[in-house]
Amino acid sequence: MTIILGIETSCDETAAAVVVDGRRILSNVVFTQEELHQSYGGVVPEVAARQHLVGILPAVERALHDSGVALEDLDAVAVSHGPGLAGSLLVGVNAAKGIAFARGLRLVGVNHLEGHIYANWLLHDAVRGDRSAQRRPPQFPMVCLIVSGGHTELVLMAEHGSYRLLGRTRDDAAGEAFDKAARMLGLGYPGGPAIERAAERAPSRRGHAAPPAAFQLTRPWLRGTYDFSFSGLKTAVLRLAESQRAPVKATGRAPTTRPSDVLGSVPVSGPEQAPLWVTELAASFQQAVVDVLVGKTVSAAAEFRARQIALAGGVAANRLLREQLSAQARAPVICPPIPLCTDNAAMVAAAAYYRLEAGEVAGWDLDVNPNLRLPYTNSGAC
Ligand code: KG4
Ligand code: ZN
Repeated sequence: MTIILGIETSCDETAAAVVVDGRRILSNVVFTQEELHQSYGGVVPEVAARQHLVGILPAVERALHDSGVALEDLDAVAVSHGPGLAGSLLVGVNAAKGIAFARGLRLVGVNHLEGHIYANWLLHDAVRGDRSAQRRPPQFPMVCLIVSGGHTELVLMAEHGSYRLLGRTRDDAAGEAFDKAARMLGLGYPGGPAIERAAERAPSRRGHAAPPAAFQLTRPWLRGTYDFSFSGLKTAVLRLAESQRAPVKATGRAPTTRPSDVLGSVPVSGPEQAPLWVTELAASFQQAVVDVLVGKTVSAAAEFRARQIALAGGVAANRLLREQLSAQARAPVICPPIPLCTDNAAMVAAAAYYRLEAGEVAGWDLDVNPNLRLPYTNSGAC
């Protein structure tokens, strides 16, 4: 039995967890900084780093307490050392080093993206409220769609630790596109959940109306590649949002020939109060992003005869993406339960277990690497 303390501070969640044999969660503590960054409309790196400093030891203490495991029972300490925000990563790496050094424990440096992938190895029933226990480990070869705030990568995994890059975003990451579109629509931060909630209120999604033709967005297919591009969609949302708002600003009321006639006027903050045109635009944007992510992932899984498809990263929490990928893929789709899609430390401990199995231990000179990549066997996207 290998008991690992995982630590995660790469962005705006201060997290610690205790995991047995890379799969069984004994505790999983996440202190989110969401509220702190909300007023800025995004993560402020220095504020995030300082908040990690405040939260990291309480998070570790709580994780050990909740797990019933004492420091001397641990086998290793694992920590995300990149990619992410340098100042944030430093807090986690230094805390992990201190604990490992003081207790003579092995230290494992984990790639944050590998952590997201290995959230798929964690047993579901350990998460309160989720009854869909999934006991069999994921099967290789596996096509994995990593969709987070900073990354969108389609990867073929032949075995533990073996990654072939099939495609990646050429501009914005999917999560970044959600965050930017949400800001343009006045929906607040973080954008993914806000767009999702707003889209659920769209009359066309609820079967009450046809989707407004003006809001039909072109899908950026980049045919012949497994690459993605989301910046055009973001710009399209901006233009449409401006066209909805401008006449209101000028005349104090909506024009008579645009979708806002029927749907509402200027947006106020938050998905629950958003006017109907915002909900329709959010739904249309979400559908366009999901269509491309699903289309490419399904094709890659077929081409590479994947036995499974895995979703990973914060955007994997998106219900439409989960549903449509499962509905369209031939291979079985696995995805972590929603709380394990966004940043957490259980996924770090899970990835570390397989690194330890392969004999990989970090030295005391472990550094952070804000641009750390997965160790791809090929040099770039096809
Ligand atoms: O993996 P993650 O927690 O942090 C990074 O490693 O970046 O991903 C955060 C991203 C944010 O862009 C957030 O808007 C997005 O994941 N996200 C979602 C949803 N929940 C979080 N995007 C779409 N739908 C969601 N339900
Ligand atoms: Zn992440």
